[in-house]
Amino acid sequence: MSRRAHPQIKSLRSVDALRARCADLGIDLPLDDTLEPAPDGPLARGLAVPAASGPVTVGNRFAVLPMEGWDGTPDGRPTDLVERRWQRFGASGAKLIWGGEAVAVRPDGRANPHQLLLSDDSYTEGLAGLRRTLVASHAEAHGRTDDLLIGLQLTHSGRFARPEGPPAPLLAYRHPLLDRRLPAGGTGAPVLDDAGIDELAAAMVAAAGRAAEAGFAFVDVKACHGYLGHELLTRCGPDGTPLPFADRTRFLAAVLDGIARQWPSLLVGVRLSAFDLLPFRPGPGRVGEPEPWSGPYDLAFGGDGTGLGVDPAPAVELARWLSARGVGLVCVTGGSPYYNPHVQRPAYFPPSDGYLPPEDPLVGVARLLAAARAIKAAVPDLVVVGSGYSYLQEWFAHAGQAAVRLGHADSVGIGRLVLSYPHAPADVLAGRPLDPRLLCRTFSDCTTAPRHGMVSGCYPLDPVYKARPERARLAEVKAELRAGIATAAPGPGTGGDAAGESTSPMEEHP
Ligand SMILES: Cc1cc2nc3c(=O)[nH]c(=O)nc-3n(C[C@H](O)[C@H](O)[C@H](O)COP(=O)(O)O)c2cc1C
Ligand code: SF4
Repeated sequence: MSRRAHPQIKSLRSVDALRARCADLGIDLPLDDTLEPAPDGPLARGLAVPAASGPVTVGNRFAVLPMEGWDGTPDGRPTDLVERRWQRFGASGAKLIWGGEAVAVRPDGRANPHQLLLSDDSYTEGLAGLRRTLVASHAEAHGRTDDLLIGLQLTHSGRFARPEGPPAPLLAYRHPLLDRRLPAGGTGAPVLDDAGIDELAAAMVAAAGRAAEAGFAFVDVKACHGYLGHELLTRCGPDGTPLPFADRTRFLAAVLDGIARQWPSLLVGVRLSAFDLLPFRPGPGRVGEPEPWSGPYDLAFGGDGTGLGVDPAPAVELARWLSARGVGLVCVTGGSPYYNPHVQRPAYFPPSDGYLPPEDPLVGVARLLAAARAIKAAVPDLVVVGSGYSYLQEWFAHAGQAAVRLGHADSVGIGRLVLSYPHAPADVLAGRPLDPRLLCRTFSDCTTAPRHGMVSGCYPLDPVYKARPERARLAEVKAELRAGIATAAPGPGTGGDAAGESTSPMEEHP
């Protein structure tokens, strides 16, 4: 865990240097040497998305990944900050907007007291307004909008629901490790039964109808990041072993059938954690380590049974099943920001409640891109959007262009980079050099802030958040954390200078 062990991306000054680093790590991360701008470059090509009324063409191969800001009103409606985020998504130049941000379909499904809601018709106009804002900013910056595809992400936060602030979990099953992280070990937390699943699916279908009325071209039935739609994929019976596929997909089946019946022209996508690992925790020297577990671990969807490796087969099986049920798009992600954040958001600087990277974050990027590639190879008719590119910084588009050119993914999904540098896709497409001052350096403030009750945003690089009063509070939180790490004892395996070295990724940034 040192700068030497995990060199920062900005120190890799060429594509060849990044290639050499990948070779040292033994990972396969295809990279193009040069970027080809519009109109002929791979990232500028149109993408056909299957639809009931004939394919819809999306104007390029960039997608904005969903990112919430913990900044809606207490009753779940957009604020000026939400509006601004969507405006910036529109200005990015990406022609696919994957979901905007997580929107809860029921009040009990909110992940925080400021998450957006779509639980009754009174919310439809607010979401329609966000969509209009996005379209208008796209039109202003990029002209045509008939090749812009905008979806809305629908969710129930399940185990991670905190509608009023304190945890109020709704569990898919009793989990031997994750329940320990709940108040009183999860005793008293309700576990969904079949009737509860059907009821929740009906709420999701109703919200999908509202999304259609609000003008969204597709909904994302969220099945990732540890939330309910994801946890149900490893649903267990009372004996603690996973139930048959039909029981684990009961929720998805009910939602997809309901949408097909009631809203046949609405496109459907699924954001899927295609693999998962054991929950991680801070270990010696605050370096991440998996929770101790003995024997096979079958509670990680897409895991290889060890809790630490990936098996693409379950995600491929599910992707085939989704495609057969009319799902046209899949956005591939992995793990959960709550219990193994390094898997989902590879970062050099961890969030305050996280841990120091247990692996070079490039390994995490390669794991994410490989998951998308496996699904695309097995189910070529599905439109596959990849995640995990922001960590690559200067080289994100080199990896994205290679992925699209080689057919490993159809679209390059970008998250944090859009918060710090919204017009990065537009710059790439126009053949302009990237502005290194705006590149997301994975400082994780956008995750640390909401973990401490503040709105999320790119405090280090976005002028609006730089000027917000929360920035001082955030600096205090991080200073306390650095002090905590500096006093933490170095543990075995972290090297003799581990304590000193391990403070470096928590340094204050510019
Ligand atoms: C501030 C923030 C909010 C996020 N909100 C969501 C969300 O609402 N829904 C979702 O599926 N993923 C969410 N994510 C995860 C991102 O969509 C993305 O998967 C992740 O950041 C990795 O992509 P990146 O490396 O390009 O950032 C969020 C990430 C961040 C940093
Ligand atoms: S706060 Fe900004 S620089 Fe840090 S991870 Fe988030 S987007 Fe990137």
